[in-house]
Amino acid sequence: MEWWKKAVVYQIYPMSFKDSNHDGMGDLGGILEKVDYLKELGVDIVWMTPVYESPMDDNGYDISDYYKINPLFGTMEQFDELLEALHQRGIRLIMDLVVNHTSDEHEWFRQARKDRNSKYHDFYIWKDKPITDQQSIFSGSVWEYNEETDEYYYHLFSRRQPDLNWDNPEVRKEVYRLINWWLDKGIDGFRMDVIDLIGKIPEECILTSEKSHKYLQEMYRECFEGREVFTVGETSYATPVSAPLYSAPERKELTMVFGFEHLGLEEVKGNGKWDLKKLDVNELKKVFAVWQNALHEKGWNSLFWSNHDQPRIVSRMGDDGKYRKESAKMLGMILHGMQGTPYIYQGEEIGMTNVKFPLEDYKDVETINMVKEKQEAGWSMDKIMQGIYAKGRDNARTPMQWSAQEYGGFSDHEPWIRMNPNYEIVNVEEAEADNNSIFHFYQKLIHLRKEWEIISTGDFTLLFEDDRNLFAYKREADGERLTVIANFTAGEVQCGLPDEIKPGRGQILLSNYDRDSVGKKMTLRPYESFMYYEETEK
Ligand code: NOJ
Repeated sequence: MEWWKKAVVYQIYPMSFKDSNHDGMGDLGGILEKVDYLKELGVDIVWMTPVYESPMDDNGYDISDYYKINPLFGTMEQFDELLEALHQRGIRLIMDLVVNHTSDEHEWFRQARKDRNSKYHDFYIWKDKPITDQQSIFSGSVWEYNEETDEYYYHLFSRRQPDLNWDNPEVRKEVYRLINWWLDKGIDGFRMDVIDLIGKIPEECILTSEKSHKYLQEMYRECFEGREVFTVGETSYATPVSAPLYSAPERKELTMVFGFEHLGLEEVKGNGKWDLKKLDVNELKKVFAVWQNALHEKGWNSLFWSNHDQPRIVSRMGDDGKYRKESAKMLGMILHGMQGTPYIYQGEEIGMTNVKFPLEDYKDVETINMVKEKQEAGWSMDKIMQGIYAKGRDNARTPMQWSAQEYGGFSDHEPWIRMNPNYEIVNVEEAEADNNSIFHFYQKLIHLRKEWEIISTGDFTLLFEDDRNLFAYKREADGERLTVIANFTAGEVQCGLPDEIKPGRGQILLSNYDRDSVGKKMTLRPYESFMYYEETEK
């Protein structure tokens, strides 16, 4: 089996992970201080969001030089040191590859916007006038006027993130050059930002097309063939049909996809993420089941609840008050029991929660632009704030809570973004000291994946599909069965066992309470979940 089928990834958002140089902003030196923490948790791969040179309009997803480290984060020497420190501990490092767009301060764009005849002009997408009314993901038209050439350029994200023209072979050559440069340096792969969008057709408002596959195959030939490289594509527009195309090994595109359908269920369909709707658990279960089955033996999926763009999962789908620990563990268990590669976003392993800040304390360009747009559209301030509390990306970007000290042990300087005020209770120091903590539970989840092959290989069937209180499924492989049963509510729930599952025949591998056996009839406590393994007749 490929090594990454048993691997677990830890995502670091450097700005908010650990500050080492006393400026309130996390940095490479801070990550270096915490490599033993990552080892202790047991993860195999670290994905670090962008640390390249950038004016930070979108916190580094706007790159102005792909070959340089942003001085805010440190130096190339520190980067090399970090890479080595991780490798010494058997942890791989993957970098964020942001090549759908650059910063407007990238040299290519500076040249492009000055002169229609520059060789870099065709690195971007230009029209004499806005040819569509397509809206950018960060609000406003995708077409932005450029005075010097009297044209409009295309940007799917902020106006300071012009999209690269992937149809230009010179662009692709430059991208492959930078990928190979980083691989030659010894990094282990890439998380590819919005990579399914490289096949867009702006003239038709089409975001992704067959071209995305064609370019990824070319990238594979030019950069990955013959190397051991781990690639995960952020593929928001992938479907259960296209996901295997991206990730089937014989197609030579990506190691795995990273799709969001399970996190798009709490919004009024078609209205974007800010128009909130209550989660229907059965819908969530169904989405997981469809993806599990679509990729089984055909491709490979990422498993994640959180990242730097998503609210904290325990606030979102669990209970961040009374049952914070129980519900965070339950959510961890149902995800880590599935087929795919799990991703843990910094702080998830200690059950960090969402925040409610006054509007002026939010930093994210997406949130700031949205407020303006929704106010113009007549939304009440209350509705806007409810949207931010539930979905704002800054929920995930408050500093990592290391201890109960001032600024949560993240820094000794006021952080660039406010702390979550609960750091005195929710922090790593507390979690490490408590044998029953979420942290130790995540350690066990990571370990179980290594020990029990069925977690990586078994097929997937939902159990109690229509029961809104339960999230349960079984995984089956030759002569074995793994069953995960979770109470998805804050109340007690009665649960029987399907006939085929035999109490007494198997063993509980993990429980978030003290359950050590299963019965034909059980009362599950609030958010109780367990994982049961048994050998079956062949
Ligand atoms: C997806 C990244 O995860 C997000 O943070 C960023 O804003 C957009 N891509 C644009 O690069």
